[in-house]
Amino acid sequence: MKRWRPSVALLAATGTILSQSPVAAEKLPNLFPFLNSTGILETYNTAGGPISLSGPFFQALGTNGRSCGTCHRPAQGWSLSSDEVKLRFELTRGKDPLFRTVDGSVCNDHVDTSTLAGRRKAYSLLLDRGLIRVEIAVPENAEFTVASVENPYGCDSASALSLYRRPLPSTNLRFQSAIMWDSRESSPQTGTQKITYDTNPADLIADLAHQALDATSGHAQGSIPLTAEQQKQIVDFEMSLVTAQAYDYRAGALDHGGADGGPVFLAKHVMPDFFVGINDPLGGNPKNIPFTTTIFQLFDNWAHAAGFPFDFFGQARARRESIARGEAIFNSKQIDITGVSGLNDDLNTASISGTCGTCHDSPGIGNHSLPVPLNVGVGDPDSSVDLSYLPVYTLQNKATFETIRTTDPGRALITGAWKDIGRFKGPMLRGLSSRAPYFHNGSARTLGDVVDFYNTRFHIGLSSQEKEDLIAFLSAL
Ligand code: HEC
Ligand code: HEC
Repeated sequence: MKRWRPSVALLAATGTILSQSPVAAEKLPNLFPFLNSTGILETYNTAGGPISLSGPFFQALGTNGRSCGTCHRPAQGWSLSSDEVKLRFELTRGKDPLFRTVDGSVCNDHVDTSTLAGRRKAYSLLLDRGLIRVEIAVPENAEFTVASVENPYGCDSASALSLYRRPLPSTNLRFQSAIMWDSRESSPQTGTQKITYDTNPADLIADLAHQALDATSGHAQGSIPLTAEQQKQIVDFEMSLVTAQAYDYRAGALDHGGADGGPVFLAKHVMPDFFVGINDPLGGNPKNIPFTTTIFQLFDNWAHAAGFPFDFFGQARARRESIARGEAIFNSKQIDITGVSGLNDDLNTASISGTCGTCHDSPGIGNHSLPVPLNVGVGDPDSSVDLSYLPVYTLQNKATFETIRTTDPGRALITGAWKDIGRFKGPMLRGLSSRAPYFHNGSARTLGDVVDFYNTRFHIGLSSQEKEDLIAFLSAL
């Protein structure tokens, strides 16, 4: 395993101390500032007052000492960053409830957790990439068979596949159009429901209640199901949270100088306008409002940031302008979208002229405003990024005998459909700076890696300045 750098350790230490101290307390003050690599992340409680840290979300309701808060950490955008996982491992010698073999280790058998060295090996994917092992059975009616499994860690069943996935943030949930990477908690196959304009938010609330039940019996190895009251408390709690980057070390407060960053604007001005399908490039808006590629308008006013007091070297101004340029790139840089399953194949169009917002289309938040799972190639073993740490599954079509190699079949394991292989939901893009690494499989260690992935995948041709600006913008979300 790679040694971690002192700077990262220091950073993680700061974050952990900040995240631990209020956790030991009963409450987190509203808008508590959590430091991360580029600034400060804050969570706004729409229910008013401080954020309670004593409700069922933070209680160990299963048998292994874990709570939802073990993996959904306020300091890390209500997800988990691999830097903090490393620190937690060192501080507890790998004994924190996060480190449980049920899904924290690379496999649930043939691992030795009796020694520190053994634990370091067993939890290597969690330490290095923040990955949790999710086991999903191949549906009986699947249009494919699993022809071969190459899993370097031993979990090589061909009927219940081991997938290694990043915890999704349990915040900003009001904007959800599908729950879980593969939307399985919003699928009739699991007894949950698809999220639609007509049934929202009742569908979302029911899906989250079901998700809480599954998370308790799964991750927390609960033997007694949650009561309806506990489910309700967890869902109410989750639904009350709105999270975003609030401060940038160089640009200053992200809602100053005419900008609209930070969680308060998100809660008060973006959330009330949201509805399922609010912005759809394929004409799916239920109110027939035309699609706009202008997904983010938070930093428009920084395009020509006026000079302001105490910015002695013009540093803040330069950073503000960079963030604004990055926003413009997100909204307008043309991307020739090819080979994306869920778009090019379903629309029968080899090439679609789009932008980042063709897929990240929900205004001000950046997830897909309709449940449209897509395969952008993040789990493709032949992609430009290193996926050698993941298993490779060879799937064979029962009718055509065609084969596909993938590190994670995604949506196809829920629907059984061949066309759904490798499709994942378009995730939210707020609070990114606090929760590296990125993508469902943690393959992008930094936002720079994310940008490089897209630049290579779609031959966008971004200059180094454009990359820097886009990264500055994503960091400020
Ligand atoms: C061991 C770590 C772990 C624990 C404990 C845990 N989760 Fe998660 N959570 C994950 C992972 C990993 C995912 C994504 C899995 C996937 O999509 O396949 C996830 C996804 C979610 C999502 C979906 C968000 C979205 O964008 O779709 C919600 C909501 C959530 N968890 C809430 C909870 C709640 C509530 C609890 C406690 C009852 C809990 N989690 C406990 C790891 C964990
Ligand atoms: C063709 C659709 C599409 C386009 C275009 C697209 N994305 Fe994505 N994006 C996705 C999907 C789908 C995912 C989830 C992929 C996965 O993990 O399997 C994703 C994931 C991400 C993530 C990771 C979020 C997380 O929580 O891990 C970031 C950041 C991101 N995209 C930024 C961008 C930027 C910036 C652009 C433009 C340069 C862009 N995307 C263009 C569909 C797209």
